[in-house]
Parts: sequence; C-alpha cells; structure tokens
Amino acid sequence: MIENTNKKTYVITGATSGIGLAIMEGLAEKEMNLIGIGRSPELCKRRQELFRGKYPQGKMKYIVADLSLQPEVRNAAVLIGETLNGWKLKTLDGLVNNAGTFTFWQTLTPEGFETQWAVNHLAPFLLTHLLLPWLKKSSNARVIAISSGSHYGAKLDWSNIQQLGRYNPLKAYKQSKLANVLFTAELNRRLGSDSSIQGAAADPGLVNTEIGGKSQSRLAKRIWDHRRRKGIPPAQSAAGIIKLLVEVDLKAQSAVYWKDGIPKIPDPFALNEDYGRRLWEISAQMTGVSLQKDS
Ligand SMILES: NC(=O)c1ccc[n+]([C@@H]2O[C@H](COP(=O)([O-])OP(=O)(O)OC[C@H]3O[C@@H](n4cnc5c(N)ncnc54)[C@H](OP(=O)(O)O)[C@@H]3O)[C@@H](O)[C@H]2O)c1
Repeated sequence: MIENTNKKTYVITGATSGIGLAIMEGLAEKEMNLIGIGRSPELCKRRQELFRGKYPQGKMKYIVADLSLQPEVRNAAVLIGETLNGWKLKTLDGLVNNAGTFTFWQTLTPEGFETQWAVNHLAPFLLTHLLLPWLKKSSNARVIAISSGSHYGAKLDWSNIQQLGRYNPLKAYKQSKLANVLFTAELNRRLGSDSSIQGAAADPGLVNTEIGGKSQSRLAKRIWDHRRRKGIPPAQSAAGIIKLLVEVDLKAQSAVYWKDGIPKIPDPFALNEDYGRRLWEISAQMTGVSLQKDS
C-alpha cells in the first residue's frame, strides 16, 4: 500500500453520529489522523472499534467529553494534547466544532449556562482557545464551526443572551448558530490576515440526522421526523465540510461563511465588528479565557 504522505491531523467534536460521524468517515478514507469527541462512552467505544477495524492504516482515537461542561472541555483539550504527544505529532491541522444540540425545554448546566448556548457556542469558543497552541504549529490550520442556515434573521439579545427566564427553544438554537458565524469572523480578525490559522463557518444544509429526535419533547421529535426526510444524507453534507478542511484555499478568500465548499454571504449581523467584539468579550468572561491579537 502507498502511504499517504499528505497526512493531516484533525479533531472533530460530535463525532459519534450524524454529520460529525460522516466527517470522520470521509477523513478516515483519506487516511488522516483523527481524534473524535463524543459524550457517550459506549458510542465512542463502538465508533473507535468500527474505525480501527475498517481503517487500520490511520491513527485514530475517541475521547469522551460532555461539552456542556467546561471542566470536561478543558480535560478533552488535555487528552488531545496527550494523544498528539503519544503519536509523536507536533501539530494539529484542523478543529471541527460540530457537536450540537437542540433542547426543547430550558435546561441549565451545573455551571448555570443554558444548554444550547453551552454546547453550541461556549464549548467551541473554549476548545478553540485551548487548542490554539497546537493549531498555531501547523502551517495551514483550519477551525470550522458547523453553523446553520437558521442563523439568517436571528439576532443576539444582548440584555439576556441566554434567554434565561423567557426561553424559546428555536430562538435559542438560532442564536447559538448565529454566534458560530460571529465567533468565526471575530476569530479571523483577532488572528490577523497573516495568520496560519483560518476560521470558516459552514452551513451543512438540511441533513437527515437524529438531532431533533434527541429533544425531550414528543412534538419536537414529530416535527423533526417529518422535516429530516427532506434532508440530504450526512455523507453529502460532510463532503462540503471536508472540502473546507483539505481542498479550499481559505487563505486566498476573505469569506467567513460557506455552503457545499462555496462561499456564501451570511446574515449582516454576523459580520458586524462591534457585535463580534461584544460576543467575544461575553464569551471570554463566561469561559475565563481570552485571545488578544498577538497571543
Ligand atoms: N441536521 C441538520 O439539518 C443540521 C442543519 C444545520 C446545522 N446542523 C448542525 O450540525 C451539527 C451536527 O448536527 P447533526 O445534525 O449531525 O446532529 P446529531 O446527529 O445529533 O449529532 C450531534 C453530535 O453532537 C454530539 N453532542 C451533542 N451534545 C453533546 C455534548 N453535550 N457533548 C458532546 N457531544 C455532544 C452528539 O452526541 P450523541 O451521538 O451522543 O448524541 C453527536 O455526536 C450541529 O452543530 C447542528 O447544529 C445540523
């Protein structure tokens, strides 16, 4: 067998099902080194066995972390570092912040954050920050946020960004997906145009996954069951995201938002620099981290 000399190393969150699992599969086929993150120990074990059996040539590991909990995000970053050291690798070439959730009823994490805000926005913000030292060692690293077309028309409610006390599940989901694009644009601004790291927010399209079926509400499950039938297969959606990781020259483009590997104009709210700065400051305070332009 000819060894893939262009092997790169990627971390994918939410790698146990849906789009994240399909991204893992697509990258495994390209013989990339892969670290998947999932919240279920049982699913992580099963997926790891599956990949190791099917793609014995690649380095691959699953790490268990409930990304709604910041201590687990921090621990995942430590385990990623240990894994890379164990593999004798010095760089990380990409992080795909894919894990996402839709919670019908308002639930708070033990740290007091609204769950969708914690998983869909704060975890990517924190994990990206923690992995920057690894990403910076790559000559061409990518940080991909899996956002959604549902961010169009959404606004962040600055007076109550988590909608505490007056929760609307769909609005909370859309806000978190808008935050994905705002965060990506602000990350690129803070890293600067000469950075070796490029951020991109991807719209995966409507995809036939279980995401809405994991909600606690029977009504939400029924609506999603109906809607998902119109969705594309996860592998088709993953192909566009894999393009952003391995094919598209992100440095040559100023675009922040992408669909099917093609730039798309996001909602203007997502490109507003004041809003980007404001979200960054709030998120830094909520996670206890910061990224100045030159750090
Ligand atoms: N499906 C769509 O039509 C669609 C459209 C636009 C955007 N998106 C976005 O695409 C991304 C992937 O969604 P999907 O449709 O593939 O959904 P999915 O099949 O439910 O996959 C979501 C992944 O995130 C993981 N996850 C959820 N909560 C987590 C937590 N607290 N800690 C760690 N991992 C957690 C899930 O783990 P388990 O396997 O244990 O559940 C799963 O691996 C999400 O960010 C979603 O917002 C999806």
